[in-house]
Amino acid sequence: MDQPWWREAVAYQIYPRSFADSNGDGLGDLQGITDHLDYLAALGVDAIWICPFYTSPQNDHGYDVADYCDVDPIFGTLADADHLIARAHELALKVIVDLVPNHTSSAHPWFVEARAAEPGSPARDRYIFRDGRGENGEEPPTNWRSVFGGPAWTRIEDGQWYLHLFDHDQPDLNWHNPEVVEEFTKILTFWLDRGVDGFRVDIAHGLFKELRDQVVPEGLALTSDAAVMYERGVTDAPMWDNLGVHEIYRAWRKLIDSFDGDRMMVAEAWTPGPAELRRYVRADEFNQAFNFSWLQAPWSAEAFTNVIGSTLQALGPSRAAPTWVLSNHDVVRHRSRYGDGLQALHRARAATLTMLALPGSAYLYQGEELGLPQVYLPPEYQEDPWSETGEGGRDGCRVPLPWSGFEPPFGFSEVPDEDLPTQPWLPQPAEWVDLTVAAQNGVRDSTLEFYRAALAARRAFALGADEDVELLDAPEGVVSFRRGGVGGSPDTRTDLIVVLNCGMEPTPLPEGEIVMYSGDPVVGDLPTDAAVWIIAPAVE
Ligand code: GLC
Ligand code: CA
Repeated sequence: MDQPWWREAVAYQIYPRSFADSNGDGLGDLQGITDHLDYLAALGVDAIWICPFYTSPQNDHGYDVADYCDVDPIFGTLADADHLIARAHELALKVIVDLVPNHTSSAHPWFVEARAAEPGSPARDRYIFRDGRGENGEEPPTNWRSVFGGPAWTRIEDGQWYLHLFDHDQPDLNWHNPEVVEEFTKILTFWLDRGVDGFRVDIAHGLFKELRDQVVPEGLALTSDAAVMYERGVTDAPMWDNLGVHEIYRAWRKLIDSFDGDRMMVAEAWTPGPAELRRYVRADEFNQAFNFSWLQAPWSAEAFTNVIGSTLQALGPSRAAPTWVLSNHDVVRHRSRYGDGLQALHRARAATLTMLALPGSAYLYQGEELGLPQVYLPPEYQEDPWSETGEGGRDGCRVPLPWSGFEPPFGFSEVPDEDLPTQPWLPQPAEWVDLTVAAQNGVRDSTLEFYRAALAARRAFALGADEDVELLDAPEGVVSFRRGGVGGSPDTRTDLIVVLNCGMEPTPLPEGEIVMYSGDPVVGDLPTDAAVWIIAPAVE
């Protein structure tokens, strides 16, 4: 019974820049989050994960950290962070913060020092500096491409090159250096002491590298983008998933477990599939890892069914709680991934309802509860370093939330002076007037009320808790599974059957009472692009 909270939690991901702006400068901030925590508690989530709010030049919107133990002035102060954590705890919300160990910002004092120091010096050894190849060292040390596009190495004035798997402003740390290891122990301790309940570890599969050329089959482009690589079947990944990372996570887990309460860490680790992910969630390592296979599955019953099966099979032996995620700040919103217009919204809600019936924990991304679509921003608004390289940016899922009102900024920014309306850092589409929290609040068939109802029902049936999922035979295009013996007390236990119709025609439903549906109330067969939860007679 008494499981640690994270095993079944629904966590809500906050992208602080775009959540709520308390001081009218067009950028979201910590006070804005604190002001809206009651909204999140009422939505029915158990935890929040806040993307980086630390001191940073904001070249990758905070994933380029210059001081891990302070708050960037655009987001507020350390006192604001303390206040946020305290208020969240008052509302029984757990707080997960982001930790970025693979790289720092080039503005981090360590990198400033390293650049100015001699080749071979201790300051350089905190990063990955190497001489180049070729007669005059004019060729980079390996053929790697950065995830954001372009070479993964940049040459500095004295001729040495440094490695950056992401932007050139995000130099990779050298995790063989004990000083780096020690520094992160201090950083974890700093935030644990401040009361955070967990860490989301950025690029957890990246810390150690095997410095040699990547080999890709003829005809395929070199890339360090793990998601793309695995999708294309490229298996040689000397920059990712090297086994050295696990020793680090074992030490972190010990540290985290030595604090009171159930603290946790969740890995952002891109691996070819659930089987490889399993290494990260061994009993003495991460408590969880994001299950990106679920997010990457297309709108297909076969794909969804396979991911459910392979996830549970892979994680079973390690007893790690599975996780489920459909959207985050790096990918096209699932509301826009499954097609166009209203059909895509129906599909997104159906996928969400299916996800919320699966055991383990689920991660929601801010705005999905409003059914926000991806926004296609004109190039002049694109800020993401990924877009500069022509790979298409991630700004479209990061447009500030619409809270209320009839025109931008839709309550996102508190405007202190009516004569000086503030525009949010990215423009919000005028059509979002119908998608604001205020517009959907109390409206029976709105996406917001659907999320509230689904989260409440998930809690009532304790669907996160039990690991038992029985995949059922279903017609082509249909996903169906049974959750045996779910629900509160022993005498109210019941079986729940979940049916998701990704097919082309309506599908008959098993007998039982429909307790949740993703779209219109269901009478008779389940229409396409819809999902239901049904209380079914128990099987002996
Ligand atoms: C992770 C983050 C992403 C960031 C990258 C580099 O993938 O989710 O937003 O750009 O790491 O830190
Ligand atoms: Ca602000």
